[in-house]
Amino acid sequence: MQIIRRLESLREALGSFAEAGEAVALVPTMGALHAGHMALVDAARRLAPRVVVSIFVNPKQFGPNEDLARYPRREATDAQMLSDAGVDILWAPEVEEMYPSGFATNVSVAGVSEVLDGAHRPGHFDGVATVVAKLFGQVRPAVALFGEKDFQQLAVVRRMTADLDLGVEIVGVPTQREDDGLALSSRNIYLDEAERARAVTLPRAMGEAKRAIERGDDVATALSAAIATLTRAGFEPDYVTLVHADTLRDPVRGKPARLLAAARLGSTRLIDNIAVEFE
Ligand code: PAJ
Repeated sequence: MQIIRRLESLREALGSFAEAGEAVALVPTMGALHAGHMALVDAARRLAPRVVVSIFVNPKQFGPNEDLARYPRREATDAQMLSDAGVDILWAPEVEEMYPSGFATNVSVAGVSEVLDGAHRPGHFDGVATVVAKLFGQVRPAVALFGEKDFQQLAVVRRMTADLDLGVEIVGVPTQREDDGLALSSRNIYLDEAERARAVTLPRAMGEAKRAIERGDDVATALSAAIATLTRAGFEPDYVTLVHADTLRDPVRGKPARLLAAARLGSTRLIDNIAVEFE
């Protein structure tokens, strides 16, 4: 596996793939890799002969009071995992390479970026859209893979790719979970032992709400019950809500629906989502 930090070297390496007619699958990440990321890498390997994984902790998607400084960085371990998984290129630019002085462009996706996490994390999805647009321009992949774990991010990337005719096929990969149901996340390492034990309340409360809605209970009542359960377990919920899976607006009976939640446990903000049959 080549570890590349300069755009010039990336272009050279990609040029030889292009000459051989080999399509590239891209997996964008911020590192501190876990089995969730590796599920994306495995899916990428099945979709294209060449796989590029990017690791870039993108300052533009962190708010001023968020965890940019303490975000876990462990590139050596990550590189070993990616090399073992058969990845061709690890693209790991420095901030100055990604955003040289004079950088002035912002990619903003209206609608799907404005609700839920977009409302709670102003500017976050602009930062994501901007860096993903750049990664697509740098790597020119045929296909790019994103986790359903970040369901709203996936919706933002799909919208941007369609709107800007970027010509990249976007593939969503199901959320990978711990045995107790907690969604894998690089941020789970912030949880102390007691918080980790309580964290399982998030997927459990969401599962209960899903079952209640699917057996025909009132949606608002089911969502309030989940919020109450989370609050009792020591969470501070930002939202627990049911939305239309494509628009992220009000759910429509008979259309794909998604239950999304974000809640803080101590200093850690956890998000999760699951599909709901809303008939
Ligand atoms: P990061 O949080 O590192 O996640 C990289 C990719 O892994 C995302 O597509 C995310 O949805 C996916 N992922 C994370 N946990 C997962 C899990 N438990 N199961 C399945 N997939 C999972 O998301 C980002 O980085 C950044 O916003 C990025 C897209 C790289 C732009 O900076």
